[in-house]
Amino acid sequence: MTYNFNKITDRKNTNAIKYDLAVARGKPADVLSLWVADMDFPTAPAILEALHEKINHGIFGYSVPDQRFYDAVAKWMKEEHDFDIERRWIVTTPGVVFAIACAIKAFSSEGQAVLIQTPVYYPFKNMIEANKRKLVTSSLFEKDGKWQIDFADFEQKIIDNQVKLFILCSPHNPVGRVWTREELTKLSEICLRHNVIVFADEIHNDFIIPPHKHIVYSTISKEAAWNCVVSTSASKTFNLAGLQFSTNFIQNPALKKKFHDERDKTGYDEPSLMGFVAAQAAYEQGKEWLTALKAHLAENLAFLRNFLKERLPRVRLIEPEGTYLIWLDFSAYGYSDAQLDDIIVNKAKVWLDRGTMFGSEGENYQRINIATPRPLLQEALERLAKVFN
Ligand SMILES: Cc1ncc(COP(=O)(O)O)c(C=O)c1O
Repeated sequence: MTYNFNKITDRKNTNAIKYDLAVARGKPADVLSLWVADMDFPTAPAILEALHEKINHGIFGYSVPDQRFYDAVAKWMKEEHDFDIERRWIVTTPGVVFAIACAIKAFSSEGQAVLIQTPVYYPFKNMIEANKRKLVTSSLFEKDGKWQIDFADFEQKIIDNQVKLFILCSPHNPVGRVWTREELTKLSEICLRHNVIVFADEIHNDFIIPPHKHIVYSTISKEAAWNCVVSTSASKTFNLAGLQFSTNFIQNPALKKKFHDERDKTGYDEPSLMGFVAAQAAYEQGKEWLTALKAHLAENLAFLRNFLKERLPRVRLIEPEGTYLIWLDFSAYGYSDAQLDDIIVNKAKVWLDRGTMFGSEGENYQRINIATPRPLLQEALERLAKVFN
């Protein structure tokens, strides 16, 4: 089957936050949206078919996944990530951010410290603060175009603040790192040394750029596996975020119980029917579509790289190892962060994610989402080139 990822599907007036919230969020009505992490493509045909089948049945009562769902997840995790799972490890949630909130409540108390590595996906900070935990950050740093972990700072912050929980972003949004086994091993050893539980947000796990390889956090060691929650979802991979469904793997029964109890306290019980029907179809039949999608994303990345080189040479691309979110450094222009954002949004009329949303380390950066048809990516880059040159 061939898929056309360059076909533009109009998303305006479809309740999409990427498009329909522009004016409400103070952006020009004709802004081009390449911000939030969803994609401008319809999902895989096999997923649409599975959803249509449910719609044709017409009854949307309380529902639970059956063994077929678990088999589909297990096969995907094994084949794609060399991760052997057991059904009893799984706890479903309406999303990864929901799972983060559950983990914060399950594994820390009010006032206790939760650690993140900034710059990072901003709901991490929001969930920690909203749940009245102490936010502790260990800054990643950039060296030779690659963002890295300061392990000494990471450990010191844990000691100084008696950190209870670490929220790992793997692969990392927005710096595009796919952490190596060595890096994850070091992180896990530090966390084990100081009894810090790890929540591994692996939602971007299916977008890995060769030769990099995603390492599931709990495959690092038995001890690491016993001390973590690994959270994933078909939502990022197959563009299903609005269906509100994610899958968490917790091997340690004591951690699982605490996490499950927190989930139960929210009143959430059965998962979204359409969410798990879509995830099951994705994991059973979505591979071919995903392969084609990844080829398109690779071409978009090459297009972006080339465009910057030829037309915007002062914008520095941080080569991603994974994700479809690309971290761009505009510091050569010498603008303040506010000036930079104003130029991009109001003059170029392109809506990217401002780097400082992810932490102060993101100053002078912007994050661009390239999961879009090439004509839209090109139009956005032309708009930027016109203003910056
Ligand atoms: C690192 C990361 N975690 C979680 C999410 C959102 O997950 P969910 O929609 O399942 O809450 C995103 C979305 O961009 C993300 O980038």
